[in-house]
Order: sequence, then structure tokens, then C-alpha cells
Amino acid sequence: MKPKSGFHPLAASDRSQGDRPRIVVLVGFMGAGKTSVGQVLSRRLDWRFEDLDDRIQAREGRSIEEMFRDSGETGFRRAEHAALRELLAEIGSAPQVVALGGGAFGQPENVELLEKSGAAVVFLDGPPEELFRRCEQQPIRRPLRRDAEQFRELYQQRLPSYLAAGWRVDTSGKDPETVAAEVACSLGLQ
Ligand code: S3P
Repeated sequence: MKPKSGFHPLAASDRSQGDRPRIVVLVGFMGAGKTSVGQVLSRRLDWRFEDLDDRIQAREGRSIEEMFRDSGETGFRRAEHAALRELLAEIGSAPQVVALGGGAFGQPENVELLEKSGAAVVFLDGPPEELFRRCEQQPIRRPLRRDAEQFRELYQQRLPSYLAAGWRVDTSGKDPETVAAEVACSLGLQ
């Protein structure tokens, strides 16, 4: 399937075509740079920023690694959905950039919440080999990143759900500043 870019004909949204989004949600696989790009983008736009994984860990009082260990992926996904619902309900008039964890946009109930919110969902993409290497250079322990082969397979498995995002931005070989500028430009925010 050819990745999309440009305007997404949102089916269910409180945002009509041509309006500037007031919520930008970054999705994509582990290592895509959702958090770092989100931070840079929010500074550029002077918007608020929130990382969903941080909210999940704060609500649960334990790390993602502990959640996977004690409650399994099912328990983690439940906590993730509750945190996303809460986050979206709290967004007032102040515009916001949100970074989701790599598996959140693959969950239909999360996609539904995002559609209702009118958020512009941007898929940050890149070759899985590069994403794997980026993760290796970070201190974060990711329970769903094991070896390179498993990582690539999971990426392939999730790709169709990421492609349901309204925009796709290629991050390969780019720094967060460049990617954030491309996201802002694609969305007509700068
Ligand atoms: C996950 C990605 C992680 C985190 C959790 C599960 C996934 O976030 O939410 O470990 O399912 O891909 P990052 O994409 O920020 O690493």
C-alpha cells in the first residue's frame, strides 16, 4: 500500500476540512522519534506537549516494564486506553501535541477516540532497521523490542494500522528538528 501524505478526509471529526488542527497526535513504531519530535514541534508552535507513556506510568505508579511483567500486554493496553481517554477529555482550548506509544494506534478503541477528538494524526515512519538502531542507542527498556527480526516483523504487522493516519512523514536520516518542521508544514501550521 502506498503511504499517504497531505490532507486526510476525516470521517468522524469535530474539525471541518481546511481548519487548523488544535490537537496533533504523533504515532508510529518504536524509535520513530515521536517524543523527541513532539517536544520540538510543541516548542516551535508554542503548544503544550504530552507523552502518553509518561501519563500511563504516572497514573499506574509503575514503569511500563513492570506493567508488562505484572499485568501482561493486555493490562498495559487497558491502562493505555484509560490514559488516552483521560488525556483527550482534559484537553481544553489550549492546543496540544501528543506522542503515543508505538502500539497505541493499532488499537481500534484508541483510533475511535482520536477520530472523535478531531486530532490530526501523523505517522512518523522509517525503515525498521534504522528504528531498531535508534532504540539501541536509548536507555529505555522496551518490552516489545527483542531482536532485529522480531522487531521488523512487528513493524510489518502494524504498518497497515499506521497507514490509517492522516499524514505520513518519513524520518529516515533526519533529526527531530527537520521532522518537526515537515510535520508543521504538512499540517499547514507554519
Ligand atoms: C510499545 C511502545 C512503547 C511503549 C510500550 C509498548 C509498543 O512506546 O508504549 O513499550 O507496543 O510498540 P515507544 O513507541 O515510545 O517506544
